[in-house]
Amino acid sequence: MILTPTMTGITSPDPLQHAFKVKSAPHAGRSGSRPVFLKPEQWQQWWQQPSQATERALYIHIPFCRKRCTFCNFFENGTNPQRINRYMQRLTEQLKIAADTPLAQSRPFNTVYVGGGTPTDISSDEVKRLGEAISRFPLIDNAEVTLEGRLNGFDDDKWHNATENGFNRFSFGVQSFDTQVRQAAGRFDDKDYLLTRLNQLSLHPSASIVIDLIFGLPGQTMEIWQQDLQAVIDSGVHGIDLYQLIGLSGTRIDHAREKGKILGTALSEYQADSQARANMYATGANHFESLNWQRLSSCHWRRDSRERSVYNSLAKSGIEILPFGAGAGGSIHGHGCMNGRDLKQWHLTHDEADAAGTLTAPVQVPGMLMSPNPAAKLDAIFKRGLDSGRLDLNLLAKDMTLHLMPLFKAWQTNGLAKLETSSLALTLAGRFWNVNMQTGLFEFLSENPFVASQEPAAQSIAS
Ligand SMILES: C[S@@+](CC[C@H](N)C(=O)[O-])C[C@H]1O[C@@H](n2cnc3c(N)ncnc32)[C@H](O)[C@@H]1O
Ligand code: SF4
Repeated sequence: MILTPTMTGITSPDPLQHAFKVKSAPHAGRSGSRPVFLKPEQWQQWWQQPSQATERALYIHIPFCRKRCTFCNFFENGTNPQRINRYMQRLTEQLKIAADTPLAQSRPFNTVYVGGGTPTDISSDEVKRLGEAISRFPLIDNAEVTLEGRLNGFDDDKWHNATENGFNRFSFGVQSFDTQVRQAAGRFDDKDYLLTRLNQLSLHPSASIVIDLIFGLPGQTMEIWQQDLQAVIDSGVHGIDLYQLIGLSGTRIDHAREKGKILGTALSEYQADSQARANMYATGANHFESLNWQRLSSCHWRRDSRERSVYNSLAKSGIEILPFGAGAGGSIHGHGCMNGRDLKQWHLTHDEADAAGTLTAPVQVPGMLMSPNPAAKLDAIFKRGLDSGRLDLNLLAKDMTLHLMPLFKAWQTNGLAKLETSSLALTLAGRFWNVNMQTGLFEFLSENPFVASQEPAAQSIAS
């Protein structure tokens, strides 16, 4: 049995700060898949086959931003209205074509996520046309339809067109309310504007307004973080995501760090290290939970039941997600797919299909297709369980639970989890380190494979 500190964390009097050194990656995963190459006619065929999925989603990617923020590497293409217009025309055309296929029509969709980049940068008219294109898919009653983006440039006209055309959830990146921290991070708008606008939008009778905050930004001291947390309450929003700053490569923060610099504010050169970020997480979690906000995952809380976070929780369960747009990821008929990010290539493929008169079915864009992950259901149980803060052991075959028990016990010893009768409950420290724990669990299974005779039991885990 191989058990390493990267799997278990280390024993320490303060697991919240010290169980692991640093958050390993934004997400955990193992693939067990290999690339698949489909001929164009096989791709077309896929869209003629009904879906076997019980729950599913659409993911639509809008790969434009007006400015590159210092902490982020999601920036793909600069915004300009003509460029966006050309993209949105193709995208809505593709959505309409796809919506008419047997694959799309065979089963209803639970949720839709329009992500980016900055989807709120599209024009008001484009918001309307996008909403109309989405409504051609069979959606369940009260399906959650999210538009991601930011408040800057999201004017009353866009808001009206969005809420009138099916969007019922809005996820805005705020990152920090502090005007100085925001400016240093390359964000528009000041705290007063954000609070006023969020208060206005949150008055809507049914739409859910959620915001993202990052902790650990340059210049963001604990005092500023506490003000950020209070501002969430003052803003009136219905849900909150708290993300630890990840040192993503290629960002301006990362380039500055390589030169030994911090992109702080005029007031502060402070940048929280991993231990300080752990304390910021705990302060955030305790803040919302003491005010009776409900925790939906390790980093997401809701004020009331209007916020459901359907897409985020289903996406972690490995459901079918039909992806649209350059840079969109998803899965079709159990195959993972990742559309290439290159906008030129994406347009070229559509232009060629147009010239060849084959725009009668969704275009196969450049990208990657992967064979079905044989352990997809099991992995989804682990990911969703650890992310939610409670792994339901009833969902695992008994043999698998026994196999993992040395790891679970080590987590318990290290203050990351508690073994209960039929579940593994993560402590606050465990929730902070849950991505490291997920990565550690997959590493454990790779170093200590479940023996062949037990494999069928693991595969029969309830979906
Ligand atoms: C794809 S971005 C879209 C946000 C939107 N365009 C905006 O301007 O706020 C989604 C979220 O990822 C998070 N994010 C981006 N870079 C991050 C990083 N380095 N560490 C942690 N979270 C990050 C931010 O909170 C952001 O709101
Ligand atoms: S935070 Fe948003 S606007 Fe800023 S670079 Fe990332 S995706 Fe673009």
